[in-house]
Formats: sequence, structure tokens, C-alpha cells
Amino acid sequence: MALPQIVGHASDIRAMCAAARGNGSARSVGFLPTMGALHAGHLALALAARKQASYVVASIFVNPTQFGPGEDLRRYPRDLEGDVAKLGSVGVDLVFAPEPGELYLAGDQTRVRVGDLAEPLCGSSRPGHFEGVATVVAKLFNIVGPCAAFFGKKDYQQLLVVRRVARDLFLPVEIEGCPIVREADGMAMSSRNVYLSPEERIRALAIVRGLDAAARLFAGGERRPRELERVARGPVGRAASSVDYVEVRDAETLAPVEGPVGDRALLAVACRIGTTRLIDNVVLGEDPPPLG
Ligand code: PAJ
Repeated sequence: MALPQIVGHASDIRAMCAAARGNGSARSVGFLPTMGALHAGHLALALAARKQASYVVASIFVNPTQFGPGEDLRRYPRDLEGDVAKLGSVGVDLVFAPEPGELYLAGDQTRVRVGDLAEPLCGSSRPGHFEGVATVVAKLFNIVGPCAAFFGKKDYQQLLVVRRVARDLFLPVEIEGCPIVREADGMAMSSRNVYLSPEERIRALAIVRGLDAAARLFAGGERRPRELERVARGPVGRAASSVDYVEVRDAETLAPVEGPVGDRALLAVACRIGTTRLIDNVVLGEDPPPLG
């Protein structure tokens, strides 16, 4: 398949997307925001976009405002050439790869802040993270224009936050959530998995094992949220150097679940294996146990 065109300027992207939409609906443009270092999880989003839209745009931008001090902004893996080839292989038409100054103009002062949805889970372990995400996706949506935008459920809280931004700001974007893509052994794919040593990579399987054990217990009828968390936390606690959270939360609002879990709830994990922070989740009552 032909290589997609790589464009660095927002004004060109805006014009090209407008031309691609023509008189068609918003859904004729499919958009896939990424930070690059692409893997099969990203490509699954591209394929979903390809199915729905006649013109598919991907962005590759390591967004500085969503990284906290001491996080991995500087060493985040970058491989533009490899990424563009991968995007071409799944039929992406256009790649937006801006320099930081293109999205954050000199004197940039505006931030998008989401309320309660952005508070718990990764919001409390990464202060300011979702403000950075919400701000950059609002910028990207305004540049691309009316479209269907594809996000992974791997970053479940991010998906909810982005949906809320689009809704609250009346952005002409339909947000699609796509299933988590896993390695053959069940580990959720992530650009950060390359940081893991071979020994840590094996240890990291504890995350999906914990989620799987809890999902099986849920399928067997267990509805006590603390018990589901306890079972998931077992393997995670033994393998991780630190645990940010192992929590059952309302799958729509992310509110804590105190009483028995209803038909559907999020079980989300974030922990460090060595120094690498990893996240994963399962929607109880919706996703099958991740180890099959
Ligand atoms: P990034 O981590 O590159 O992820 C881009 C998209 O790929 C996100 O929607 C993410 O949920 C999805 N994704 C990552 N791993 C996945 C997996 N294993 N299965 C399914 N989908 C997966 O998320 C970001 O970038 C940034 O925060 C961004 C939204 C681009 C804003 O900067």
C-alpha cells in the first residue's frame, strides 16, 4: 500500500481534511490520535477507522503537557519512519506529525480541564495528566474538523475524558471506543512495554493474571467490590514495585462502588514493574476474562 503523506502544519491538515470531507458527513473522515511508537493496538484502531471512513488521518505527537515532571517525556520511544510505514500498511491516508511549537504556539495559555471524571485513578497518580490529554485532543479535533475519532479501551479513563470533552465543548467529533489488543500471552500492548527487561516482562503478566482471576470470580457470581479488588491485587502486589491502584469503579462515571457490583463495572489496575508504569483493565460484565 502507498505510504501516507506526512504533514507538519495544522493549516494543511485542516484544508486536506475539509477537502476529503467534501459534502460528505463527519464520518467520512476517521481520525486516530497517537503518540507514535506504534504497535498492533494502534493499528487495530486504524483498521476500525478504515472500515468506517473513506479518509483516515493519524496524528503522531508526544504531547508534553500530559507528562508530569520526572515522567518519561524525554525518553518516550520515537520512530516516525517505522510508524509511517505501519500506518501505510493499514491504509492510513494522512499523518499529522507536528513539532511541539505547531500545537503550542508561543504564549499558549489555554487548557481544557475536566472535572470529576479526571480526578480518580490515573488522575490522582498523575496530576495534570488529563488536563494535558484533554487540551491536546481539543486542539487536534479542531484542526481535523468533523470526524469519527478512535480511541482504545486500554486507556479507559482517557476514553471517558475525551468523550466528555467532545460532548461538553460541542466538538463535531464522534468518539469510538475499541477493544484492548493483547500479546499472545495476554499482556496488554503498550508503547511503554519496550522499557521492560525480559525478567520484568514476565513479571508484568501478573497484571493480566490479576484481572483475569477477578473477572472469573465475577463470572462465577462474586459481586463484592472489595473482594474482586483483593483477588486482582494478589498477583499485582507480589510482582509490582509499587501499586498505584487496583479498583472497581462505575464504568460510566468512575464513581467508587460501595455496594454490590451491578451488571457492569470497571476493574482497573496501574502499577510499576521496575520503574515502568503500566495500566490495564477489564469491564466486568462486558469483557470476557482476558486470559480466555
Ligand atoms: P497512545 O498511548 O499512543 O495511544 C493512542 C491510542 O491507542 C489511544 O486511544 C490508546 O488507548 C490506544 N491504544 C494503546 N494501546 C492499546 C491497546 N493495547 N489496545 C487498544 N488500543 C490501544 O493515548 C495516547 O497516545 C495519548 O494520550 C493521546 C490520546 C494521543 C493524546 O496525546
